[in-house]
Amino acid sequence: MTPPPFRSRREHHDDPRSATERDAILADPGFGSHFTDHMFLTEWTPDAGWHDARVVPYGPLSLDPATAVLHYAQEIFEGLKAYSHIDGSIWLFRPEANAARMRRSAWRLALPELPDEWFLGSIRDLVEADRAWVPHGGETSLYLRPFMFASEVFLGVRPSKHVTYSVIASPAGAYFPGGVKPISIWLSEEFSRAATGGTGAAKCGGNYAASLLPQQEAIENGCAQVAFLDADEHRWIEELGGMNLYFVQSDGSIVTPALTGSILEGITRDSILQIARDLGHEVIERRISIDEWRDGTADGTITEVFACGTAAVVTPVGALKWNGGQAVAGDGEAGKVTMDVRSALVDLQYGRADDPHGWMTRIA
Ligand code: PLP
Ligand code: COI
Repeated sequence: MTPPPFRSRREHHDDPRSATERDAILADPGFGSHFTDHMFLTEWTPDAGWHDARVVPYGPLSLDPATAVLHYAQEIFEGLKAYSHIDGSIWLFRPEANAARMRRSAWRLALPELPDEWFLGSIRDLVEADRAWVPHGGETSLYLRPFMFASEVFLGVRPSKHVTYSVIASPAGAYFPGGVKPISIWLSEEFSRAATGGTGAAKCGGNYAASLLPQQEAIENGCAQVAFLDADEHRWIEELGGMNLYFVQSDGSIVTPALTGSILEGITRDSILQIARDLGHEVIERRISIDEWRDGTADGTITEVFACGTAAVVTPVGALKWNGGQAVAGDGEAGKVTMDVRSALVDLQYGRADDPHGWMTRIA
């Protein structure tokens, strides 16, 4: 069925937060704790396709206890940010890449594809309604969370015939409370995040559920994130629970684990492949073993390690820790290459640098 052109209606909000309440939140937004006045909603059924696109007051969803997602986790999501530029305009970074990844995730989770025009339209219309919630200054942004789930009331195990897609928005500062300081990473030696043939390359809630027990272990060991290895050999570095990884080598080249089907295809990761090349680095996608991380930091072949993602931007990794040991890159502080890549990325996102690859889209 050809989807209809995207158009949403807006429901009146009787009781939005006052400017004073909003400004208090925007002054110190943190990450993921505060939400704007509106949300976007639309539903899909096999007969009607996607329909009834609307921006409504933000509020709880009422779900029947037998709603399929609550039992079988047929759910996917995305994460992207709206950036305020100095002239007051509002921009997205590579939103078409998020739309495409959402379609790939939908395919893997047997959910209906949302047309890219609907994905972009849902974000544009929500940001327009909540424009006053886009923070200005520093490295603040409006974090956007599109998500889609099986909303059919049915306990049989098959793809849902009623699906809901929504977007919520949350003013955001730094993901890690310390700001741009090196984080410690816990090596999960026992648990994997994703397996060959599984859902690792899809952005689905189940992958994050699988990461939480090791994440708890990480926190107990003073670490902010978990490094996961491949499920077959427990040897090859995949990624962190919510970020991709990069390794800077002593010859100036930069290596990142090649995509295997069980690694999330990060849009920040992909952008850094290009940004690092633009900065004159050789960039290599290949398999990297955990022994290489340990030995390379010990003998100085690996000089810097950093994590990247929409929420994390570019975050230096200090130590990799495991039961009985640790591996520290360089002096454990943020390295120069890491910070150069970081500046190049954020300068582009905040409109302080040219956009040679046409990655920014103005939405307001
Ligand atoms: N890997 C995982 C598991 C993630 O959750 C994320 C965050 O979205 C990333 C990598 C980075 O992806 P992106 O750069 O598209 O945000
Ligand atoms: C993002 O960076 O958008 C993510 O989804 C990662 C999550 C851990 C916040």
